[in-house]
Parts: sequence; structure tokens; C-alpha cells
Amino acid sequence: PKYEFVEASVVGQNSNVGLVRLNRPKALNALCDALVDDLASAVKLMDKNTSIGAIVITGSEKAFAAGADIKEMKDGSFASNVTGGLLQGWAEISKCSKPIIAAVNGYALGGGCELAMMCDIIYAGDKARFGQPEVTIGTIPGAGGTQRIARSCGKSKAMEICLTGNQFSAEEAERMGLVSKVIPADKLVDEAVKLGEKIASHSPLIIALCKESVNKAFETSLAEGLSFEKRIFHATFSTNDQKEGMQAFIDKKAPKWTRS
Ligand code: HXC
Repeated sequence: PKYEFVEASVVGQNSNVGLVRLNRPKALNALCDALVDDLASAVKLMDKNTSIGAIVITGSEKAFAAGADIKEMKDGSFASNVTGGLLQGWAEISKCSKPIIAAVNGYALGGGCELAMMCDIIYAGDKARFGQPEVTIGTIPGAGGTQRIARSCGKSKAMEICLTGNQFSAEEAERMGLVSKVIPADKLVDEAVKLGEKIASHSPLIIALCKESVNKAFETSLAEGLSFEKRIFHATFSTNDQKEGMQAFIDKKAPKWTRS
């Protein structure tokens, strides 16, 4: 389908990586409701498309996304935010069962940084700028900023980032564990797609279970998480792909996944 504010395509040598490009250049990809709707629909369709094994979300060289749309948001009230379900559409991104890679060039501020953190892996271009500037405009992060930075980088970093509103660089983001790699800006999307292709080369069924298991680490105690992981590990032995994978190793052949 044609979207107004995102471009969706299928890329990779085996056409198995979904690429969603945020495309609202006039507002530095500010995440207005219509953009979030387009993004959520594109991700949902790709999640259902069995030829796709991983998804890359990116923006432009200047901006991944400069935040929620301040102009659209500014006249809201507590009541209209609650009854209108402000930010509800955002949850769709984190419901996706396939791995999502955020390829961040330029600004990832406020909701833009939060969108990146909803993804499973973040690759950053060397000139990317991250931040949670909400306090500078009289509000606080509302789509995970205070929670996800705390979980991935600890309290001191989360407090400093959220309480100052200061921007930080790709290198700093890598050092604090927010992003897994910094890449020259012009190579970023290619590298993110290669990462997606690597993930998509594995069994989609097993990948979905693996993603679910890593995500449990952020929701449970260690004991519960370990028990969940072990049970999912046990369960993989009821799949054809486990039999195929181990037999292919022994036969020194490439496995042929059946997603069953
Ligand atoms: C609406 C935005 C916008 C935003 C930029 N624009 N960010 N519009 N919402 N978040 C618009 C500008 O108004 C301007 O439109 C055009 O994009 C270009 O932006 P400039 O400011 O002229 O560009 P530049 O000088 O290069 O500065 C880039 C920038 C700055 C540093 C990224 O735009 C900026 O500070 N943006 C706001 C960042 C922010 O505070 N984000 C958090 C939002 S709150 P015109 O029409 O003037 O050309 C948030 C809450 C999240 O995200 C909670 C839940 C999601």
C-alpha cells in the first residue's frame, strides 16, 4: 500500500528484509498521529508477511525523528490525552514478533529516541544525536524514555539524560550500551539491512521465540526469566527447524528452514 508519511519496501539479496523509511522531511520526521499510524500499519503488514524475516526502520540523514509533533500536541488536555488515547498507536511497534532494527541517522529526540528504543537493535550513524528534550518544553518522556533508558543504561545515565534534556552523540550512546554499533552515516542503512539479512537467514520460528525470550529479561526477575528461557529452549525440540538445524550441522550442510 501507499503511505503518506512512510515508504515501505522489501530489500536484501533474498528479498527478506522489510525497510520502513520515515518520510516527513518538512518536520524532521516529527511523529504526528498520521505518521505513527502509517508506521504501525507498515510494521503490522511486514509482521504478517512470511517472506520477511526482519525489519529495518530508518529516517533521513538529517533526522531519524525529531520527536512527537509538538504543534499537533500542544493544545491537548489531560482529559483529551486520556480519552483520545494519545500515544496508543505507538505500542504496535513493540508488539511486532519479528526483530526490528532502528538505523538512526541525525536527530533521534524525544519520541524519536523512544521509537528507536522500542526497536530490538539500534545501529547509529556517526553523526546521530540522541536525547530526551521533553523537560525543555514542559513535559516528560511519554513513550518509554524514562523506563527504557533506565533499563538499558542504568539510573545515573537515565536521570542525567531525562532531567537535563541534553543531546548526546552516537559514540556516547554506544559507550552507554544504548546502541550496538556506530557506522559511517552513508553506510548505515546498508549495514542495518545486512544485519537484518543475517537474522532473516535463521528459522523465523526460532527467531521469534528467541526475541520473546530476550524481551522477558526486561519484564521479570532473573529466576523467572531463566525458567522461561529454559522452557522455551526445551520447546524448540518439538520443532522441525531444531531437527533440521542440528542434522544440517552434523551433515555439514546449510539448513533448510520450514518455519515449523
Ligand atoms: C513539530 C517539529 C519538531 C517536532 C522539528 N520540527 N521538530 N515540528 N514537532 N518535534 C519542525 C520545526 O518546527 C521546523 O518547522 C522544521 O521541523 C525544521 O526544524 P528546525 O528547528 O528549523 O531545524 P533545526 O534548526 O535544524 O533544529 C533541529 C532540531 C529542532 C534541534 C531537531 O527542530 C528541535 O529542537 N526540535 C524539537 C525537538 C524536541 O523537543 N523533541 C521532543 C518533542 S516532545 P518550520 O515549519 O518552522 O519550518 C516528545 C514527547 C514524546 O517527543 C512523548 C511521547 C511520544
